Amino acid sequence: MEEQAQVSRRRFVTSTFAAAALAGFANQASAANPEGRPSREQPKAGETTPRAIGGGSISRVIIDTDPGIDDAFALLLALRSPELTIEAITPVAGNVPLEFTLPNALRMVEIAERTDIPVAAGASAPLVRRLVTATYAHGENGLGGAVFPEPHTKPVSMPAAEMIREVIRKYPNQVTLITIGPLTNVAVALSLDPEIAHLARGLVMMGGSLSGGNITPAAEFNIYVDPEAARIVFQSGIPITMVGLDVTRKTALTEEHVRRLEAAKNPVSQAAAIIGRNAVTRNRAQGYVIGPNMHDSLAMAAFLDPSILKFQDYYIDVETSGELTAGETLGYSPVAGDLRRRPDKEKDLAAMNMPIRGSAPTLASVKTSPVLRDKFVPNTKVAVDVDSDKFFELLIGRLSGR
Ligand code: BDR
Ligand code: CA
Repeated sequence: MEEQAQVSRRRFVTSTFAAAALAGFANQASAANPEGRPSREQPKAGETTPRAIGGGSISRVIIDTDPGIDDAFALLLALRSPELTIEAITPVAGNVPLEFTLPNALRMVEIAERTDIPVAAGASAPLVRRLVTATYAHGENGLGGAVFPEPHTKPVSMPAAEMIREVIRKYPNQVTLITIGPLTNVAVALSLDPEIAHLARGLVMMGGSLSGGNITPAAEFNIYVDPEAARIVFQSGIPITMVGLDVTRKTALTEEHVRRLEAAKNPVSQAAAIIGRNAVTRNRAQGYVIGPNMHDSLAMAAFLDPSILKFQDYYIDVETSGELTAGETLGYSPVAGDLRRRPDKEKDLAAMNMPIRGSAPTLASVKTSPVLRDKFVPNTKVAVDVDSDKFFELLIGRLSGR
């Protein structure tokens, strides 16, 4: 049954949105170009406060996740953050298969005594690729070998993509997607209902990198697993905040952090301590001199307190066809001098008007323009610097209950 459903879902997605993406969807201004969206305020180049991020009175979020050691920390952080209204948690296959990420998410809501939050099962495989997992980092069970009881709570019957769609439609301009796994669920939701890109308040992702990958030299894991999905998301018009390896690599869980978690006696802190202790030990055994990166909880923290990070406007797109580079996120920014022009100027006005180009058309595809955008249009606020101490104060402080 599930296999059949999956096949038809993949067929649907492949034949619609994903196929469009693969066939040069980038050249269509409609879905991606914020200039064609009069209803949404336009971001300004160089702006440093992400529009996608909270700060208003209502912070409704959906957390899309593949737990995952650092996902577990991110979930527990969110579950201990009173300013968030978590409308749904939508597990996806990624670090480990869905048969582990789903119960791991259910375990986290049980540990935090938040079984009121619906958990909706997501995609068990990427849109058009076979699943590549990260058991080398997260262990076979996704929690680095830390063992928790089987959850009693069941997922809701609605699939993740439908849940994402329904919640965003129910609360127009109020819901932020926080994505800390491969973007398959979100891409399926967008393919079912592209308008939600303009009804969501924004999307804060852990994903991507402008400074090299962690699973290949080019690609960060979440984008590598499902680059076609990531491309759909980046081109959808949803305001994106990207918290990538450029900053998450600067966060390392230490022995001292784990001790603080162990010392606090609440169930969330104790669970985080078990996962953290295992992760630190495992990391050391693998020969790393610094502790495991807290990728996903940094993305969560970016939503809770944007002052932890510095942001820069970029146009981001995703490589989907490179044999060695699929999943790479490419960033264009005239402010950062990435268009190879006079980086001495604070903002290069000439570069603002340069086209954003893809690779040159081949003889077989003369109709495909290499120009993705006529001039620079930002679609993402990329985190470029982090105050790691401030981040860990928030993370460990909330988990340990202070
Ligand atoms: C990302 O990949 C996963 O392994 C982590 O959970 C995180 O979301 C880091 O590249
Ligand atoms: Ca993750």
